[in-house]
Amino acid sequence: MKKVLITGGCGFIGSNLVRYLIENHPDYQFINLDALTYAGRRENLSGLERLPNYRFVHGRIEDTKVVEPIMREGIDTVLHLAAESHVDRSIDDGGAFIRTNVEGSYVLLDLARRNDVKTFVQISTDEVYGSLGAEGRFTENSPIDPSSPYSASKASADLIALAFNHTWGMNVMITRCSNNYGPYQFPEKMIPLFITNAFEDQQVPVYGDGMNIRDWIHVIDHCRAIEMVWKNGKAGEVYNVGADNERTNIELTRMILKDCGKDESLMRYVKDRPGHDRRYAIDSAKIRSQIGWLPSFDFEQGLKDTISWYKANTDWWRKIKLNDPNYRAFCERLYGAAPKLGKSAIAEK
Ligand code: NAD
Ligand code: TYD
Repeated sequence: MKKVLITGGCGFIGSNLVRYLIENHPDYQFINLDALTYAGRRENLSGLERLPNYRFVHGRIEDTKVVEPIMREGIDTVLHLAAESHVDRSIDDGGAFIRTNVEGSYVLLDLARRNDVKTFVQISTDEVYGSLGAEGRFTENSPIDPSSPYSASKASADLIALAFNHTWGMNVMITRCSNNYGPYQFPEKMIPLFITNAFEDQQVPVYGDGMNIRDWIHVIDHCRAIEMVWKNGKAGEVYNVGADNERTNIELTRMILKDCGKDESLMRYVKDRPGHDRRYAIDSAKIRSQIGWLPSFDFEQGLKDTISWYKANTDWWRKIKLNDPNYRAFCERLYGAAPKLGKSAIAEK
């Protein structure tokens, strides 16, 4: 059985990807290497642990003592998602972003090359292109111009990955996807933070004037894109992934509050994020025409379904918001207060 190493499989996108691939590729063995940082939760994949073609390894991607024995087992493909992923945390303290996103990516690439891994997919982000004005969209030829320590660390990893292709002809491909939403997203990111605050009748903190634009895609559409690039991508190529779904933060906040059955009195404008990128918009013509990928989720319905998932999985996020000291301390630094959990709107129903 061919082996696929997925890094960061206990995080938001990783856990959706592992579940999706195990269901669709029973002919592969999947190894999930994850450090279980604040964002990685083993319980996200607890149902899979008994399957014969799934194995969890607890460890850090920058630790050669952990990565080398895995690579020596004979890995066919690496799908590399492990990362520090939250822009606000990278502004708060960027050191972990350099260690994981830059150094960790190098260690994986180096040991993959030395152990003849056939395919390496680097999961990157549209944020490496920086910020757009009102017009235009990012193509794969847009200049790399990252703004935050997070996006700069991802851009660095992308350049290292491309250098491995250029120097050794390694079969490396990069996906650059826009903002994901869906189940299992950690409640520090905008959509799950606003949904879970709204459930608890807590205010939702909109940065600046709320007119920043993000281009949203359902996480399963992203997972399908990763699968198709793994199977059909070309060495050394970059593929943008996006669903043509730009929204201002205000527009999205209104949708969330309405779908959660709340009114706009919960909206609170707060101090802007330093260096806040104004607009992201993805041109994904290349992956559509060359690989045949197309998004399949309708955003309005996908958002409603995501809200339903958070409603049905209250314990999952309440535990984080109430009990995780790392999360609570970060919220205190960022918003000036740890989350308060009000009388749950869910319990009232
Ligand atoms: P996440 O923060 O939810 O999960 C990251 C996972 O990586 C966690 O399970 C964590 O434990 C693990 N991890 C962190 N440091 C590690 C280390 N040193 N060694 C091993 N594991 C480590 O992130 P996500 O939102 O699921 O993003 C996954 C990937 O997709 C990232 O590379 C991110 O840059 C990229 N991406 C995310 C988005 C998005 O909207 N969330 C969009 C485009 C690209
Ligand atoms: P986020 O989910 O952090 O993703 P990214 O910064 O990687 O795009 O934020 C999405 C948008 O929402 C971004 O413009 C910042 C904004 N935002 C808020 O207005 N308030 C918040 O509390 C957070 C976390 C984000």
